[in-house]
Amino acid sequence: MTTPCSSASSRPVAGAPFRLIINGYGRIGRCYLRALHEAGISNEFEVVAINEPANLAGIAYLTRFDSTHGRFPAPVTAGDACLLIDGKPIAVTHATTPEAVDWRAYEPDLVIECSGRYGSRAELQRFLAAGCPRLLLSHPGNGADDVDATIVYGINHESLEGSERLVSNASCTTNAAVPVLDLLQREFGIEQALLTTLHSAMNDQPLIDGYHHPDLRRTRSAMQSIIPVSTGLARGIERLLPSLAGRVQAKAIRVPTHNVSAIDMVLTLSRDIDGREVNRLLRAAAEGCYRHLIAYSDEPHASIDFNHDPHSAIVDGAQTRMVGPRMLNLMVWFDNEWGFASRMVDVTRCWLTRMRAARLRLSLN
Ligand SMILES: NC(=O)c1ccc[n+]([C@@H]2O[C@H](COP(=O)([O-])OP(=O)(O)OC[C@H]3O[C@@H](n4cnc5c(N)ncnc54)[C@H](OP(=O)(O)O)[C@@H]3O)[C@@H](O)[C@H]2O)c1
Repeated sequence: MTTPCSSASSRPVAGAPFRLIINGYGRIGRCYLRALHEAGISNEFEVVAINEPANLAGIAYLTRFDSTHGRFPAPVTAGDACLLIDGKPIAVTHATTPEAVDWRAYEPDLVIECSGRYGSRAELQRFLAAGCPRLLLSHPGNGADDVDATIVYGINHESLEGSERLVSNASCTTNAAVPVLDLLQREFGIEQALLTTLHSAMNDQPLIDGYHHPDLRRTRSAMQSIIPVSTGLARGIERLLPSLAGRVQAKAIRVPTHNVSAIDMVLTLSRDIDGREVNRLLRAAAEGCYRHLIAYSDEPHASIDFNHDPHSAIVDGAQTRMVGPRMLNLMVWFDNEWGFASRMVDVTRCWLTRMRAARLRLSLN
């Protein structure tokens, strides 16, 4: 395990800008492009193409105006088969299969897979066979074996060697839960963990009831109900923190808000503690090495307060509770779109920097 303080990816990238393609330009695809733009690192990265089935006018419109994150902070227009951001063109294609895009023509270093439509290694290999050099997924894939590495930035990004071809950025919830659980596990020990995610609505739910999804509950109106859905969170946590294997369970409940989610954590700790110790630990992490990933607050918050917050997790210290000396209840907020997209940018930077360094070493040998 490494801490964000030892991050190689905070160093600037030497050489020509890395060339990126975004496949699937929905909520996360658009947040990713915007997070790159807002991070002010456009000298290091160039988004050279977007592949998205929607038409160009719609792509330009939803880049420019976003109901959740507001207007794009630069001029956006539609050009000739391209999106223009601040006058700079990004080619746009509208294919629905990896084979239908001439990836090599764009000479990409990395394709950011944000369609969520490809989960197995066989499906992901189709991109590599069609000319993509490497893929960063905005989801966990079907299982750990379907990707070369699953990265939660701040926890295991230092394990990236640069030679991987299929890397998953895990899920937004895993990115929120793992840094907090890792700190608690190391400081107090965790015997059991039950996590309930209260997740805002997503585009895999209809606005009103409709035949839309194989998960029957996801056919119900997103705006009318609190809807329990299946989640791979427990397995996702165990993938990153193997010391918790067999001791984590999770539930996910979709709620009728448009963005920002929360995790209600119930943990049995390995030793007696005082709840104030937990808050002290998490506040110190948020003010220290983990400040890029974790924030801490004990103000009286509602979820909307964290819209467009780039942290992976915001600990709500006012909600910390103890039942006896070992059962801890914690509440953690996260912007499931912006926080996650910001971590995808971090992983992109770290991975490609290492890829370039590995190439340089090879050429010097
Ligand atoms: N939203 C979040 O908070 C969040 C957070 C973390 C991770 N994720 C994960 O990220 C993935 C995308 O989620 P999202 O919320 O961004 O979904 P989304 O808004 O539905 O975006 C997906 C986009 O990909 C397009 N698409 C569909 N098939 C495609 C194909 N074959 N090739 C290229 N593009 C294709 C979709 O077009 P159509 O609409 O026409 O199908 C849509 O515009 C999912 O796996 C999700 O679990 C989401």
